[in-house]
Amino acid sequence: MEDPDKITTPSPLEEDQSQYSLRPRFFREYIGQVEMKENLQVFISSAKGRGQSLDHVLLHGPPGLGKTTMAHLIANEMGRPLKSTSGPVIEKQGDLAAILTSLEPGQVLFIDEIHRMSRVVEEVLYSAMEDFKLDIMIGQGPSARTLKLDLPPFTLVGATTRTGLLSSPLRERFGIPLHFGFYSPKELSQIITRSAGILETEIYDDAADQIGRRSRGTPRIANRLLKRARDFADHRSGGVITGQIVNETLERLGVDENGLDRLDRRIIEQIIEGYGGGPVGINTIAASVGEESDTIEDVVEPYLLQIGFLQRTPRGRVVTQKARLALGFAPSADQLGF
Ligand code: ADE
Repeated sequence: MEDPDKITTPSPLEEDQSQYSLRPRFFREYIGQVEMKENLQVFISSAKGRGQSLDHVLLHGPPGLGKTTMAHLIANEMGRPLKSTSGPVIEKQGDLAAILTSLEPGQVLFIDEIHRMSRVVEEVLYSAMEDFKLDIMIGQGPSARTLKLDLPPFTLVGATTRTGLLSSPLRERFGIPLHFGFYSPKELSQIITRSAGILETEIYDDAADQIGRRSRGTPRIANRLLKRARDFADHRSGGVITGQIVNETLERLGVDENGLDRLDRRIIEQIIEGYGGGPVGINTIAASVGEESDTIEDVVEPYLLQIGFLQRTPRGRVVTQKARLALGFAPSADQLGF
């Protein structure tokens, strides 16, 4: 059986590939990230008007919020082809040189997880981004030579979960840094209604709202929950997704009223029960729940901070009164003002 915890992980799963058609391809289809969209539209139309390539774009934010979708969209709106790769697969300077020299003028190059490129590889990007010049050493020892080549103008779109993971020389070379925030329940409800239409599934408004409120502000999770609700609906209500069906689906998948999944709750419970509610360091939390601290920092924590269930202090993470109440714990003495 599928691990139910996986449903709410914002990392891409194999089945999300088939979700490709749910992805908006143009700004007019894209719901949410309103300010980002408006700014990008201005930058894109003026770059097109000048007949130039768009300045390099850095997309940052938690997983599942649409960074890859936005990269495709930028290329579509520029009317240029997109070439996609990711930080971890570019192992050597030569790998990156091969990609850069194969670009067509004006092409958009998307590098996902750009923070996972090694520093040696990354250095090739500096002159490529700044002057459209490739400048690398080839060979070793006495026969080593530098190779200099002109590149066609191109737009690099980089994606990362946190800008802090990027070296400053690389970060500074992006003219357009854009941050993805979590989507509002209303935006998610609109996304679900749109997706249900594409999947030719009937969904009641209250059911779409319910998924929207309980998807951790993340379209990838919302679309996945929609698909699982559709599975239950096929068996139970002639294929129509009702509020009741959504409630049952989410309960079975371990998603609670606040939209928290099992890992979210385990972390909050651990901090309360093991560390008196905090403050406690991220590495200690990670060890006590058996997860990578990067996963907690990039995937779990941003949403808990956003909804005010967790606070970051210089001495570590602290569970808030709001979280204690929501999860059925007694308020802590110091938060009552004793
Ligand atoms: N599907 C996934 N993300 C979306 C978005 N932001 N707008 C519309 N449909 C989506």
